[in-house]
Amino acid sequence: MKRYLVQTFGCQMNVHDSRRIEEVLEADGYSHADDPSLANVLVVNTCSVREKAEHKLMSLLGTFRPLKEARPDLVIAVAGCVAQQEGEKLLKKAPFVDLIIGPDNIPELPDLVHGAQSGAPPRARTEFDLVAPEFLVARPRVERPDITAYVTVMKGCDERCTYCIVPYTRGPERYRPEDEIVGEIVRLVEGGVREVTLLGQTVNSWYDPSRPKDRRDSEFAGLLRRIVEEAPDLCRLRYTSPHPRHVTPELLRAHAELEPLSPHVHLPVQSGSNRLLKRMLRRYTRELYLEKATALKGCREGLTLSTDIIVGFPGETEEDFLETLSLVREAGFVSVFGFKYSPRPFTPALKLGDDVSEADKDDRLQRLFAVAEEQQQAHLRSLDTTRQRVLIEGRSKHGHFSGRTERHEIVHVDAPEGVDPIGEVVEVDVVRANRHSLNAVMDGATYTPSPKPKGPRRLPMVSGGGSAQGAKL
Ligand code: SAH
Ligand code: SF4
Ligand code: F3S
Repeated sequence: MKRYLVQTFGCQMNVHDSRRIEEVLEADGYSHADDPSLANVLVVNTCSVREKAEHKLMSLLGTFRPLKEARPDLVIAVAGCVAQQEGEKLLKKAPFVDLIIGPDNIPELPDLVHGAQSGAPPRARTEFDLVAPEFLVARPRVERPDITAYVTVMKGCDERCTYCIVPYTRGPERYRPEDEIVGEIVRLVEGGVREVTLLGQTVNSWYDPSRPKDRRDSEFAGLLRRIVEEAPDLCRLRYTSPHPRHVTPELLRAHAELEPLSPHVHLPVQSGSNRLLKRMLRRYTRELYLEKATALKGCREGLTLSTDIIVGFPGETEEDFLETLSLVREAGFVSVFGFKYSPRPFTPALKLGDDVSEADKDDRLQRLFAVAEEQQQAHLRSLDTTRQRVLIEGRSKHGHFSGRTERHEIVHVDAPEGVDPIGEVVEVDVVRANRHSLNAVMDGATYTPSPKPKGPRRLPMVSGGGSAQGAKL
């Protein structure tokens, strides 16, 4: 039996890509290994958004070296953003690696693996598919249907935020045709998926690529409407990450009118100081961001916001940071992913230096988390004793089951004896607010199980998430 193991770092795009890597290997006769020592093919899907992420890769690769020495026929592949960024250079840094494969080259993996197994020299394939962009389709799983799924609507990024390596690792923006997106979602929902998250680096800038060049404004709200119309059994629709400048009046209306659209939006702000926003080339001001945040919250009762923030960007003063803290309070984020600025290769901010000391970055990050934690706690406490609708995603260590509210809070749910609500949206009564989650009791009286797909479901991990600790990596 041929076996693979894929280890994933980084954002939702990489989680999505890792599933596609698994699919191409499974189509080639491989099955999943639970442990690296049992795998014939080891893939590390990497992230390079901050230096720390790259260090993690190098230390993980170090643990693979003895495996390769013991079993020379083991194939080790590095995929994702570090692979794209470093290409062949990585083969020199880690000579026991067989394959380097960029995000757009995933379909080539089985052939490359065959080559490596027949003695071909190490290879790097890192070509962007600029001419005929391909969006790998998530296949509904018959044996173990998923409850939640990611669907890509665009890839790459043309924004050029001055700190960010993503435009280099993911290439220029390419948009996916509307019919393909809707078709994939309809098939996933038919296969048992209850929640879909649309993915893109500036997901809400989406337009149909068949549009003439001069009419390529965001059509994202129209896409959301069509998805809701054509997949009426979809319980929940989310998207990440939107860019504030594409929060259009049509998107606000969609939030007000579309029931399945989550009343939670992750809207990265990065800084609350106009001076820094300009240096970051974010293309909005603090005032504009707050205007859009307030408008979003006004669309639907209880809509919550979370965000990403960078502390210690070059030139950030204490005053700039205080502006960020005041924006966090004003916008009322219920969770904040905070990061210390990390200089990245190729990025324009490199020439600004890295002049905020490590001690100041640490101090600011801690103060940011303290405010974020306070707000998260207050928010979770405000939900105590309320009734919520929870999509049950799996079993929990802290209760019988766990899942998420429509806004995305993690809930540990006690269910009546003998009830298995995995994959169902159930009514629960919240009985306790924890640090980063809620405890609740399911109302058995309002529960009617819907027919289950055959076979056990594939259970997503429900852990951490929504924390104020910058838990993305
Ligand atoms: N496309 C998304 C974000 C992708 S990267 C968006 O624009 O919202 C995820 C987050 O990593 C960013 O929002 C930013 O907060 C952080 N980040 C990106 N580059 C960074 C860097 N060089 N140093 C520290 N944090 C960074
Ligand atoms: Fe990076 Fe900015 Fe693009 Fe997000 S929008 S991926 S932060 S360049
Ligand atoms: Fe994502 Fe990290 Fe690449 S955040 S796009 S995996 S650099």
